[in-house]
Amino acid sequence: MKYYLSKPNLDKKELHGITKILKKPWLINGPTVKKFEMDFKKKFNYFHCTTVSSCTAGLQLILQSLKLKKNDEIILTSFNFISAGLAILQQGLKPIFVDLEDQKFDISLKSLKKKINKKTRVIILTHFNGYLQPVEKIKNITKKFKNVKIIEDCAHVLGSKDNKKNFVGNFTYASVFSFGPTKMITAAGMGGMISSKDKSLIENIKKLKSYGMDKSSYDRKKKNKPWVYGINQLGNNYRMTEIQAAVGIEQLKKINTFINKRLFLVNLYKEKLAGLSQISFQNSDYTSRPAIIYFVVALKTQKIRDDLADFLRKKNIYTSVHWDPPLSEHHIFRKYFKRIATINSKKLSSKIISLPLHTMMSGKDVIKITETIKNYFNAKN
Ligand SMILES: Cc1ncc(COP(=O)(O)O)c(C=O)c1O
Repeated sequence: MKYYLSKPNLDKKELHGITKILKKPWLINGPTVKKFEMDFKKKFNYFHCTTVSSCTAGLQLILQSLKLKKNDEIILTSFNFISAGLAILQQGLKPIFVDLEDQKFDISLKSLKKKINKKTRVIILTHFNGYLQPVEKIKNITKKFKNVKIIEDCAHVLGSKDNKKNFVGNFTYASVFSFGPTKMITAAGMGGMISSKDKSLIENIKKLKSYGMDKSSYDRKKKNKPWVYGINQLGNNYRMTEIQAAVGIEQLKKINTFINKRLFLVNLYKEKLAGLSQISFQNSDYTSRPAIIYFVVALKTQKIRDDLADFLRKKNIYTSVHWDPPLSEHHIFRKYFKRIATINSKKLSSKIISLPLHTMMSGKDVIKITETIKNYFNAKN
């Protein structure tokens, strides 16, 4: 028996959705993408939404839309996935890395206060694994900097709620979600969604993601001379396909079941591992309902973490680390690295591990994995 880190949950409903698309004339820019955007908007009470080919593309398109100047400063946490960093570098902007709080996944507010200044234009706030960053506190810090916008990387938090029980995705200037294969819902392996209160941002992104064309082929279809469009911006091809949207629509219908199943498994994991002094769990003060995608725990040292991962792999239990090293230590950021102190990110990165978690798992699987872990540590004592 193999215990995979993650596994998508797709059934006949998604297959039926895909089959329907294959019989239609529109494979891109059609009504299914529009329906997915509408369903998503309604489900979470968002203002305006548009699909994109990935969360990474979405972050890039938002930064591009803001028409920033070369080397304008963009703050992000050093404990991060590459997407935010790529978006910044690809737009010719300057990444400014901020550390985490000690032993936590939350951004260090002290570090943020030190780094924010007149040159800061954007904070890309990456939420981690279902738990939300202290958005209100960050907004308070940015109040005296009128030109600073906050963008949230919500790849890990679709369906999470803050302490006032509001869904993430409406708190700041814009939020971007991912429908990659390990995320809460998938759009057949890839895809993203941007939500914002700023209608003009969303309208502009619709153009930028379609080569920069000022009208989509679907909208032009009903007009005279449907081949006529204008191009006034440097666009790209960052669209979602109809097949992806058809899968997304079906996945969205199941999201509550997915969130609850993952919470059940996480709680069982915690109950079964509670007595082990070597392991501690992720926690947060800012989330009333976390929509968790990975089961992340911290060990006491990097060696204990690495040895455990090795042992589990030999037992066919596959793990990963989200993320080690911290983003700021990757070669591509070396130019900026000297300016930063990211000790807490480094400490955390070196000790964490993600254990198998997905909605195709059963409680029995969790019991098997936790027993294997407990036996491993007991044999060492
Ligand atoms: C925090 C975070 N942001 C963005 C992404 C990238 O998402 P996408 O594959 O949709 O570009 C990931 C991928 O896992 C991620 O972990």
